[in-house]
Amino acid sequence: MNSLLRRKDLASPLSEVLSTIVLVIIMWFGGKIVLDGNLLSPEMFIGYILIFSQIIPPARSLTTSYYRIQKGAAAAKRINNFLNEQCEITNCKNPTTINKLNEKIEFIDVNFKYDSSLIIKNINFEIKKGEIISIIGESGSGKTTIADLCARFYDVSNGQINFDNHNIKDLNISSLRNIMGVVSQESILFNDTIFNNILLSKPSATIEEVENAAKIANAHEFIIKLENKYETNIGERGDKLSGGEKQRISIARAVLKNPDVLILDEATSSLDIESESSVQNALTNLMKNRTTLIIAHKLSTIRNSDKIVVINNGEIIEIGTPESLMKNKDSYYSKLIEIDAD
Ligand SMILES: Nc1ncnc2c1ncn2[C@@H]1O[C@H](COP(=O)(O)OP(=O)(O)OP(=O)(O)O)[C@@H](O)[C@H]1O
Ligand SMILES: [Mg+2]
Repeated sequence: MNSLLRRKDLASPLSEVLSTIVLVIIMWFGGKIVLDGNLLSPEMFIGYILIFSQIIPPARSLTTSYYRIQKGAAAAKRINNFLNEQCEITNCKNPTTINKLNEKIEFIDVNFKYDSSLIIKNINFEIKKGEIISIIGESGSGKTTIADLCARFYDVSNGQINFDNHNIKDLNISSLRNIMGVVSQESILFNDTIFNNILLSKPSATIEEVENAAKIANAHEFIIKLENKYETNIGERGDKLSGGEKQRISIARAVLKNPDVLILDEATSSLDIESESSVQNALTNLMKNRTTLIIAHKLSTIRNSDKIVVINNGEIIEIGTPESLMKNKDSYYSKLIEIDAD
């Protein structure tokens, strides 16, 4: 861009100087011919000069247009690269469409690698309809990856994930994602207004529905304090908001969607204790009568779940109800409770 601008700025004075020089030369040469003999009549010469000086500006703009075409072509190339990018996750032939979860989600011998090394190894568990399953484990153990596999953001390398006995690879991807609400660890927000960012999950929603969702997510209060309220632009990736505010917008989006299956990845990690407890209440309400996969580090959430899956290095090391895991004093979960009690 720097070298481009430098050339662009140089081009204009340069071409002006050159065209003046050319004009001077022509006047000198033409004047000499007129004065020296009868080769050219003065009126012809003046007419010539007039026409010539009229031709110079369009000729100059021809060079700028060439420069603009080059610039546009470079931009178009980059945009085309982006638009032609193939999505690796595609629908199979004749995919099955689902509109709700009837029975369960099952992970069967799931293995997954991003590049070469296995990140998820032999994962087996099931989430029955209406259950809340917590996944806990150290950072980098593969919790987010499991949630991503469930929404088919990646395809498993081995094994399969079943929704009501359909392999998710055989399901219509948009129908699968339609029944899911995902609040991801890093909020995915766009350079648009708060209203449009929430609306994304249900484009047909009314203003009241969006506001209600924001109220449930404990976001309404901070939104109405902003200058343009719901019409405030939140900047690239929502950079004009704090981490907790971004999270609450993501939660409002999930609330608005009112999905059958809810995936919450550390949904309240960036909130202070007070907002956290109120958002947590909202989430607890939201989780009622819904199938939820929740990745959490707060014991309050984990305690209320039907089943806990403890992941270490991509493997399940413990699985069971909170009570059953408590019985084993050496379990990861018991230690977590101990640390919390301290
Ligand atoms: N897009 C990716 N490409 C390559 N490797 C990845 C990618 N995303 C995650 N990983 C690797 O996979 C492993 C598991 O990551 P994951 O995000 O699932 O961890 P996590 O359990 O959610 O951790 P945290 O609690 O910190 O969020 C990590 O070792 C990470 O380096
Ligand atoms: Mg994670």
